[in-house]
Amino acid sequence: MKGHFGTNLGREEITPREVFFDRRRMMVGALAVGALAGPARTFAAGRGDAMQKIDVVPGRYSTDERPNSLKDIASYNNFYEFGTGKNDPARHAGKLTTRPWTVTIDGMVDNPGRYDLASLLEGVRLEERIYRLRCVEAWSMVVPWVGFELRTLLKRIGVRSSAKYVAFETLLRPEEMPGQKSRFIDWPYREGLRLDEAMHPLTILATGVYREPLPNQCGAPIRLVVPWKYGFKSIKSIVRITLTDTQPLTTWNQNAPQEYGFYANVNPEVDHPRWSQASERRIGDGFFARRRPTLPFNGYAKQVAHLYDGMDLRRFY
Ligand code: MTE
Repeated sequence: MKGHFGTNLGREEITPREVFFDRRRMMVGALAVGALAGPARTFAAGRGDAMQKIDVVPGRYSTDERPNSLKDIASYNNFYEFGTGKNDPARHAGKLTTRPWTVTIDGMVDNPGRYDLASLLEGVRLEERIYRLRCVEAWSMVVPWVGFELRTLLKRIGVRSSAKYVAFETLLRPEEMPGQKSRFIDWPYREGLRLDEAMHPLTILATGVYREPLPNQCGAPIRLVVPWKYGFKSIKSIVRITLTDTQPLTTWNQNAPQEYGFYANVNPEVDHPRWSQASERRIGDGFFARRRPTLPFNGYAKQVAHLYDGMDLRRFY
């Protein structure tokens, strides 16, 4: 079977089971090393030197839409810790030290603790999943993420039955994240999901893109991807995951509650107060290309619409 991008990744080619598991352990190792590699590394899109390709299995949820180039994915970003311009993250995120990296997991869990990244990745099944990501300013991209299901981690940590939401926090390190020196956001950047959204198999923690470790500007070394929601739910450079029974504060909801609700599901019928959301511009299509109609739940309605049965999604935007 031909995998995406012309590489052979068919399961049938991975013959003996032991070899597969050995290889996978190596892949996870390579990823962990790659993701942790070197302080202040600047990502050079397309060159790939000093970066190891990560060997992964193709995920069953991928779209067959044509992915954006690595150059697009790594040069047009929102990561306000590095500035508000779309090119700022690519220019400034090289300063971010992603090694060592720990993620605190706490709240209503059986095994709270501070986990280093390698231990979080140990034994996880890394997949390549090609997802659409849509952002509020009506642009979209298709990205071949490398990651694993968030629910794998949550199950391993043990979620208590009292937990109803998952809260996420980004690193707070103004000396390396110049945007944090201005106070237009109450740092650290925060996001949250309802527990059933977090446990949905489409929700992944990504550690790579195009089978390379995540470029810093894309949220290295570990970020959330929730493909049916607006991009802002996909919090980058995560250092804390908290299980809670109350709806968590989120950066965008806190900053502009009249514009951004907690749910942030893509609903083309509801205009943002300052612009229409009925169509979108695919990055890389060229400025004058025809805009694409925006799909409910960003095209993932079949998989996730049932999560919101009975909810008025105009009210719970
Ligand atoms: N995470 C943090 N920590 N800080 C941010 O400013 N921006 C969000 C989201 N995650 C953001 C963040 C927004 S608005 C978008 S659209 C996506 O990241 C963009 O992800 P991308 O740059 O990988 O396309």
